[in-house]
Formats: sequence, structure tokens, C-alpha cells
Amino acid sequence: MARMFDIAPLDATFGAVVTGVKVTRIDDATWRDLHAAWLEYALLIFPGQFLSRAEQIAFAKRFGPLEFEMAPISNVKADGTIRIEADNDDVVKVLKGNMGWHADSTYMPVQAKGAVFSAEVVPGEGGRTGWADMRAAYDALDAARRVRVESLTAYHSLYYSQAKLGHQPKRGSDYSGYGFHDGPVPRRPLVKVHPETGRKSLLIGRHAHNIPGMDVAESTQFLESLVDFACQPPRIYHHQWTAGDAVVWDNRCLLHRATPWDMTKPRVMWHSRIAGDPVSEASLG
Ligand SMILES: [Fe+2]
Repeated sequence: MARMFDIAPLDATFGAVVTGVKVTRIDDATWRDLHAAWLEYALLIFPGQFLSRAEQIAFAKRFGPLEFEMAPISNVKADGTIRIEADNDDVVKVLKGNMGWHADSTYMPVQAKGAVFSAEVVPGEGGRTGWADMRAAYDALDAARRVRVESLTAYHSLYYSQAKLGHQPKRGSDYSGYGFHDGPVPRRPLVKVHPETGRKSLLIGRHAHNIPGMDVAESTQFLESLVDFACQPPRIYHHQWTAGDAVVWDNRCLLHRATPWDMTKPRVMWHSRIAGDPVSEASLG
């Protein structure tokens, strides 16, 4: 049977724009096709959805239980005033930290499965979100490097990544503190096997550090060189948002990042985080 939506692949190794469907009204057959497309493309972009918060949460839940239902990613404060870059408070430091390539919740005991992300208020320019295909990056490694990364692991920590921006969590901050995990620092393989497709991908990004068996400088250099190699065309795509857009991405095989915008302009985005499988997305310890 023909698909009940139109799908246009991006000019990249991954990603597709889906039209002709309202994600709040999908029957089971359409859902199966959409889910299969999500596993194949890893990033689906749905223009013109204008999801209410309840609709976004309901759509995200179709992909599985949520790590958290909804969080604003925004420079607009609760009182409606704008948080500007010069404030350089903890929220700004998190917004800027997320401009480095990363996967979500790799610093938690279970990394995220994915996320639904939508645009409510967007600046006229800038503020794009980028994604990078770590399946294609793994496939593009030369044979020697592929063998090398197969045996390596790295620690993942938000303390580590945010310390680079001078951010140490403190009480009374406007940032919730989510992600500053105080248990054992999760250690993860550099090569992740996707639990549903079986495809291998690189698990790297700004939270990864201290590869066991390397000294700190060597580990830092090695991980940075991998990100530099991996996050290049045709393996990247940056989305220029239009209000009403919604996307869903697979955090088990993509990295993503925010990009700068003029923070005197409001930007309001909504993030629903889909929980990883407690077995396949668990850290090594
Ligand atoms: Fe993120």
C-alpha cells in the first residue's frame, strides 16, 4: 500500500522532510511506515505542525517512554524578558555548550533514544540546529581507524563539557541542573550498535573524554579529531527553523548542535526527550 505521507530525503547521508501528514492524527499503518522511515533516515522534519504541548508529548510517547516530557530551550525567561548573551548565566552557558556537537544524555546512566523538538518563536536568522550522521561517519573511517575505535571507550559527563564554558552547577541558578549526574561517570564504547537496525555508529561528541589507556592530551586530541572528521558534508545538515516546524531524531546514531543567533531576539523551542532502552542504551558502568 502507498505511504500516507510524502517523504523527501535531504541532500545528505540521512534525514528527510515529511509532508502530507499531521503527526497528531496518524493511524497504526501510517505509524508503522513513519517509524520505519525514522529508523532509516534518523531525522524526520515535519513543517507546519504547530503542535500544542500536549500534542508534542503525545507524539513523542509513540516512540517510547519519555526521559522528560517537555523542556523549553529558550532565551526567554519565565517573566517574559530576554536573557541576553552578555548575562552569561548558567542558562546561557548551557545554550552555548549545546553549540558543540553532542548526543543527549550520554552523561546519564541511560542515554536518550531520541527527541521531538519544535519551534514556537524563531529569530529571523541564525539559531539553526545541526545534525550529523554517525553511521555514515563510522562507515567512512579508514580500516585502521575503524579497528582502533572498535576497542575504545570514553567517559561522558556534563560536568566535563560544561566546565569548558566555566559552568559549574550551583544552587539558585535558573538552570535546573538536569544532567549533572553525581553517580559513577558513565563509560561508553566509541562504537555503538543500534539496537533496532544493527548499524554501527560513532558515539563521540562534547561530553566524551578520558579514553582509558590514553593520557588526557592524547584522548582529547583523538576525540576532537574524530568529531572533526565525522561532522563534515555529506554527513551534516543544518535546519533553518520556521515557527510550527517539528522534528524527531534518533539520538542513538546522530549528533546534534545548536548554532548562534542574536540573543537580543527571542527564540523559543520545545524539547521532549525519549528515554533510551535501559539495556541497549545503558553505560558500561
Ligand atoms: Fe542536545
